[in-house]
Amino acid sequence: MRKPIIAGNWKMNMTPSQGAALINEMKPLVADAKCDVVVCVPYVDIPAAAEALKGSNIGLGAQNMNFEPKGAFTGEISADMLKELGVQYVIIGHSERRAYYAETDETVNKKVKAALDAGFTPIVCVGESLEQREAGGWEKLIADQAKAALDGVCPMCVTKVVIAYEPIWAIGTGKTASDEQANEAIAIIRKAVSEVYGEKAEELRIQYGGSMNAKNAQGLMAQEQIDGGLIGGASLKAPDFSVIVAAASATVK
Ligand code: 13P
Repeated sequence: MRKPIIAGNWKMNMTPSQGAALINEMKPLVADAKCDVVVCVPYVDIPAAAEALKGSNIGLGAQNMNFEPKGAFTGEISADMLKELGVQYVIIGHSERRAYYAETDETVNKKVKAALDAGFTPIVCVGESLEQREAGGWEKLIADQAKAALDGVCPMCVTKVVIAYEPIWAIGTGKTASDEQANEAIAIIRKAVSEVYGEKAEELRIQYGGSMNAKNAQGLMAQEQIDGGLIGGASLKAPDFSVIVAAASATVK
C-alpha cells in the first residue's frame, strides 16, 4: 500500500507573512490527515513557513534547487542551504521550469541525484503538452521523461522519489485530465519505471497534477494508480486544500 501524498505548489505566490498566515489557517484543517501533506513554498518564504509549520504534520518543500554543491552560480540555491532551513521535499523539473528556465531531462536527473544525496524527497514532474498529446507518442514521451529523471538512481533510493504526472494542458487551465486519463498515464509511467527497477516501481508514489481541486479530487484519488496530487491554485486556499487532503486520506484503509 502506497501512502498518498498531497503537496501544494505555491509557485510565485505568497509573501513570507502571507505564507505563514496560510499555513496557520491550514494546520487545524489537515491535522488528522492519513496521507502525507506538504507545502512547497518560494525560497524566501522558507524560514517563516518552517516556523509556522513547527509541531504540525505538514512537510516543508522547495520548488527548485541547484545540483551543484556550491560556487559561482549567481542567484542559485544549493541543497545544503535548503537543508539548514529544514526543507524535506523539493519539486524538480516542473513544466514551467522546463519551459521558461531551460530545465532539461539532463539537469532534472542531476537535481534528482543531488536531492537524494541531501536526503530530500524529490517530487519530479513529467508531462506532455497538448500538441504532443494530439500528435501522438505522448506515452513514450512521459515514459522517457521518467526514465531520464531516474537514470543512475540506485534501486534502494528510487522508492524515495515521488513522480508527479502533470499534463501541461491541464496546468492552470481548469481543464483536468479525466480520472481515467490520469490513471492511464500514471500506469504508463509506473510500467516504464518497472522496466528498469522491477518490483520497486510498485512502491514508487506517482501523483497527478493539473487543475486538481476540491471538486475533482475524490474521483482522481479513487483511481488505483494515483497516489496523490501536486496542487497549484487550489493549494493557495486552506479550505480547498484541506478537502483534497481529506479525499486522499479517505483512500487510506
Ligand atoms: P494548478 O493546480 O494550478 O493547475 O497547477 C498544477 C501544478 O502545476 C502543480 O505543480
